Amino acid sequence: MYLTHLECPRCGARHDAGRLANLCACGSPLLARYDLAAVGRGVTPAALAGRAADLWRYRELLPVAGDPVTLGEGWTPLWPAPRYGDHIGVPGLLVKDEGLVPTGSFKARGAAVGVSRARELGATHVAMPTNGNAGAAWATYAARAGLAATIAMPRDAPAICRNEVVAAGATLHLVDGVISDAGRLIREIVDKDGIFDVSTLKEPYRIEGKKTMGYEIVEQLGWRVPDVIVYPTGGGVGLIGIHKALGELRALGWIGDRLPRLVAVQASGCAPVVRAFDAGERRTEPWPDARTVAFGINVPAPLGDELILDALSATGGTAIAVDDAELLADLRAFGAREGLLLCPEGAAGLSAVRRLRATGWIGAAEEVVVLNTGAGIKYPDTVAAGTPPSS
Ligand SMILES: Cc1ncc(COP(=O)(O)O)c(C=O)c1O
Ligand SMILES: [Zn+2]
Repeated sequence: MYLTHLECPRCGARHDAGRLANLCACGSPLLARYDLAAVGRGVTPAALAGRAADLWRYRELLPVAGDPVTLGEGWTPLWPAPRYGDHIGVPGLLVKDEGLVPTGSFKARGAAVGVSRARELGATHVAMPTNGNAGAAWATYAARAGLAATIAMPRDAPAICRNEVVAAGATLHLVDGVISDAGRLIREIVDKDGIFDVSTLKEPYRIEGKKTMGYEIVEQLGWRVPDVIVYPTGGGVGLIGIHKALGELRALGWIGDRLPRLVAVQASGCAPVVRAFDAGERRTEPWPDARTVAFGINVPAPLGDELILDALSATGGTAIAVDDAELLADLRAFGAREGLLLCPEGAAGLSAVRRLRATGWIGAAEEVVVLNTGAGIKYPDTVAAGTPPSS
């Protein structure tokens, strides 16, 4: 293993990676750091080509020493979407389909790596608030690892995620309100019972799982970066992770200096990152009365706001909010042209591309990757049979 330490991106403090860790004393999330020079001597892009089609192909860049807890997560397809792309004036559109990951969302990447590391550092019981998919994934991987899990989610989270948590034998708490209300309940539980808190960005290894989306995009393009990567942003872990992955690949010399422009997509009913980005601020303000059909991005106060905003500015990216009606129309328009039922969060990414193309921020010849972060079939109500398809 090439993991050396944990680093605070805010105050620079160095932390021991050999024991269970949450936030830095200054309140910032921590980032895992590796001996990249040694990684570069130990493995090359060419050597990765013959490895298993899962995220553990990047094991030198992951924080797990022993056998990982796995259900075969990662290495999802990166599909060209030329018909929908032509429709919105971006023929170079690609969609990475995270719906094929176990538990039906990219959250399994973070859970596989986070649970693997928590287990090897001695955790026996993990707890977290969730908008649904992360809880389903962590409950599933905790069960697979022989750990107990306690999950709290809003009462109106997708029913299937609730059921997945119960099916995996975890303890489920339903709360009235949004993910931050579930977070308050989890804080009480971890304080009282000494359970390991794996809330979004409160432990450092979920990012490590999610960053593999960034490695895969680059490897699947033949060790080349696209012009733009569009990510539906709630807690922002995926976006922060992709940015971290790109930085690591650049430090390794596996890609050049140019990075893709990263785009954080939010719903107009919950857009704290967009508001802060537009105002040129470094932190977000909690979004009041947050609501959107794209449930996974209904996060009114993301803990990693600084890291999200840094990723956008460091790459010349942007943040944009889209309406529920618009993303549902794009979900239909995409399905009819490309035959893939997206999750509403992924569809929000398409609405963002359409809008950014219309303003000229995305050029007609650019290569744009949208993350479809989950399986459309986890959200059976985004399309009603009997409603005519949109144009
Ligand atoms: C399907 C889906 N997309 C996107 C997100 C947002 O994830 P992140 O915390 O990485 O911003 C979530 C989070 O719940 C989700 O379930
Ligand atoms: Zn710090």
